[in-house]
Amino acid sequence: MGTADPCKGNIITIDGPAGAGKSTVARLVAERLGYEYLDTGAIYRGITYFLSGRSIRPSEDGNIAHALEECAISIEEGRVFIDGVDVSDKIRSPEIDLAVSAYSALHTVRSFLLQIQRKAASGRKMVAEGRDMGSVVFPEAPIKFYLDASLEVRATRRWRELNAKGINITLEEVRKQVQRRDQLDSERELSPLRVPEDAHIIDTSKRSLDEVVNVILAVIEDQRAC
Ligand code: DC
Repeated sequence: MGTADPCKGNIITIDGPAGAGKSTVARLVAERLGYEYLDTGAIYRGITYFLSGRSIRPSEDGNIAHALEECAISIEEGRVFIDGVDVSDKIRSPEIDLAVSAYSALHTVRSFLLQIQRKAASGRKMVAEGRDMGSVVFPEAPIKFYLDASLEVRATRRWRELNAKGINITLEEVRKQVQRRDQLDSERELSPLRVPEDAHIIDTSKRSLDEVVNVILAVIEDQRAC
């Protein structure tokens, strides 16, 4: 375990790969604790939507830096706004799934978002979920979790989500996309997906949502009983 004091600090981090169940779990844990919830994947998706919508490719670093200066991105009550427009539904498309890892690997994008994420959490009680919450953005967080699940389970969850939205895609295609995103997110040079040193690892493959939430709440309660 790390040296962070579990009774101090107001950030709880949840990291893990695509489809591990982080977003729903983090939202429910935040609700139960009376905390706010920060979905950082949604912010990376928002930036991807913004840049790809302007036809700026990940290789165009200079243009990206320039465009980000004009990008007003905000998160309010779990919804993502760009220039005041709610893009929360648009950022969940298979096109954004395909493009997001390439933009997320860029130094220009990550350093721009690092400040935004820290500012969003400043002075607040928050459950923050993503890929590098416990390792890079909030390394001092006193309680950290890492959610994982088998590729099969994660791909099936994502496929069901897309189906429910009426998006026609096969399970095999989704499996390939999730696998590719895993690879890009964990092999990139900057802030790759890692299990933070002092994180509690939870495999969600065979657990219900409620079970995962209860395990997390029990760990938090346990650590705080000091
Ligand atoms: O959690 P998600 O699937 O919505 O995240 C979308 C992408 O955003 C993910 O494939 C990689 C990137 N991401 C990141 O690089 N760092 C984070 N903290 C959160 C997400």
